Amino acid sequence: MFDPKVYIKRRDLLKKQVSSGLILLLGHEDSPMNYAANAYHFRQDSSFLYFFGLDTPGLAGVINVDEKKDILFGNDIDIEDIIWMGYLPTVKDRAEDVGVKQTASLNDLAGILQEALAKGRPVHFLPPYRPETLLKLEKLLGVKPEEAKAKASTALVRAVVAQRSLKTEDEIAEIETALKTTYKMYITAMHMAQPGIWEKDIAGRVDGLAIADGGATAFPTILTKNGQILHNHAHGNLLKKGDLLVVDAGAESPLHYAADITRTIPVGGKFTAKQKEVYEIVLAAQETAIKAIKPGLKFREIHLATARVIANGMKDLGLMKGDVEEALLQGAHALFFPHGLGHMLGLDVHDMENLGENHVGYDDTVQRSKQFGLAYLRLAKELKPGFVLTVEPGIYFIPALIDKWKKEGKFTDFIAYDKLAGYRDFGGIRIEDDVLVTKEGYKVLGRPIPKKPAKIQEHVEI
Ligand code: GLY
Ligand code: MN
Repeated sequence: MFDPKVYIKRRDLLKKQVSSGLILLLGHEDSPMNYAANAYHFRQDSSFLYFFGLDTPGLAGVINVDEKKDILFGNDIDIEDIIWMGYLPTVKDRAEDVGVKQTASLNDLAGILQEALAKGRPVHFLPPYRPETLLKLEKLLGVKPEEAKAKASTALVRAVVAQRSLKTEDEIAEIETALKTTYKMYITAMHMAQPGIWEKDIAGRVDGLAIADGGATAFPTILTKNGQILHNHAHGNLLKKGDLLVVDAGAESPLHYAADITRTIPVGGKFTAKQKEVYEIVLAAQETAIKAIKPGLKFREIHLATARVIANGMKDLGLMKGDVEEALLQGAHALFFPHGLGHMLGLDVHDMENLGENHVGYDDTVQRSKQFGLAYLRLAKELKPGFVLTVEPGIYFIPALIDKWKKEGKFTDFIAYDKLAGYRDFGGIRIEDDVLVTKEGYKVLGRPIPKKPAKIQEHVEI
């Protein structure tokens, strides 16, 4: 974990941002996979980690804004825990590690919260997303599970988003650590991307590297020759020459900061001429987007500038036609680029998405569009130094979407449907990097992972 001063500073700032009452931050429990003692890999709640730093189940934190004190709630382990799970320092000792002076047993938590409520003091909590947390909120505060999201504190959400959005040097170093592992994952994936190998063989090795470095993957690895299915987690295909392998993966650092990279690798190392044409458009779009990043600019503008590169490229290939600006305005390009350019990155791969995408990626100056494609943009607002975000444009040929739009007679002025027949089995291409917004502009984080066709080929053929 970080130095205790880091957590003290974060909690103190939160006290200033949330003007009164108690802030309740619930840690996670072990979640059973098929019986209680056989749990899923434990992952602490990211906001609990951010403010209280402790990475084990069964903890809760209360920040008393009015009395300016922090309390850690947890139960000390007993001999049975020691026999089965090993030794763990006392809650008091662990609290000291994160700069918390006061501790109490979990049994005392409900009483303290109820006492505050009885005195008319607000108890702020974040929108819950795990069933165990919903049940705890009901038990502790009497909030019904179906009402818990609506009753979450907007003031607390805003304050947490404000703090967690601005990454400190320590946090950026953690993301770099995650990227160091991720670099190895990609070099391995490239080396293994040979005809005759199964997707699962590569996925197993890639995920194993994340575990071997003491963390885990930050999200389920996408490694597929069906890259046109955006969140495709199946790894069941045998690869052959000519396949395009989309790998969207990232490690978590030991302190749980995420990396999120995508590369599209031609199986065997060499793109066909047709693949290369589309690949170069995605690469140009990604490089245009990265170079545009600077504080003060809305990410939505950068998304639209990227879409322009894609639409112009598709027109050059004869797959789009007509007035590009009008096509962009109407959203015709979203047939090929149906998702947003990127999202915040931090303790979560889609950072703070559980707090509400509109709180994280939008503000009073920019409202979410309802247009297909643009509506999926997770980050649209003005960029500030300290934001870390992904830049991940793509071009996909999704037969079901092409057929639907064609049948509906949609955008016939802009889409050359007749030319798309030859692309139905193309798949998809995405390229993604993680970028820090600096005072001057941007910094691409991590050791560069090959993305120029010749460099990828070199790494496949090694
Ligand atoms: N890495 C998966 C995503 O960004 O959605
Ligand atoms: Mn991503």
